[in-house]
Amino acid sequence: MKFFVDTAEINEIKELAATGLLDGVTTNPTLIAKSGRDFKEVIAEICAAVEGPVSAEVTALDADGMVAEGKKLAKIAKNVTVKVPLTLDGLKACRTLSQAGTMVNVTLCFSANQALLAAKAGATFISPFIGRLDDINIDGMELIREIRQIYDNYDFGTEILAASIRTANHVKEAALIGADVATVPPAVLKGLVKHPLTDKGIESFLADWKKTGQAI
Ligand code: E4P
Repeated sequence: MKFFVDTAEINEIKELAATGLLDGVTTNPTLIAKSGRDFKEVIAEICAAVEGPVSAEVTALDADGMVAEGKKLAKIAKNVTVKVPLTLDGLKACRTLSQAGTMVNVTLCFSANQALLAAKAGATFISPFIGRLDDINIDGMELIREIRQIYDNYDFGTEILAASIRTANHVKEAALIGADVATVPPAVLKGLVKHPLTDKGIESFLADWKKTGQAI
């Protein structure tokens, strides 16, 4: 499973990139607003810090507008992935941009049929939002399961990018189902390494090692 981090905070991105565990980045207009920075400037900085795909979202609602914005964003760096919403216009823009060789992430996916359409439109990534479905008492993980099955049935190359992840358990479940990528908030990503028994084990090993009086 690939790990993307879901943030526009460059320092967090650099810190995670240094671990060698980061495969890409996703942003959205809310995260850009939160960063308080210029959109294109921050995307350029993230693209320089990370080798993998960096999602930058369009804000136009019509296909032509999305394509025009997508082309501008794609010029920033070769690892820019243009993010378009899951609407008919978004799918139209997805087709045009992907045919022109631009990576496209179709976002705000809440049903298996939407994911099927995105794959047919040539999406590089489909982003089903797990947490937002859970928020309205619909099992977000079931959507990942359905999309996996459909994409496998027809050998679609579109990668399932599990999004709106809120917990470590979301990551585990998405990995068990076979999502290709998980985009995870920095705190959740860093939390994946933690286990109290690991800390306890280190503590007792070090205490015993000290008794030997040796150095490595
Ligand atoms: C994905 O690309 C989105 O930016 C993100 O995962 C949305 O998560 P949220 O529902 O926690 O805002």
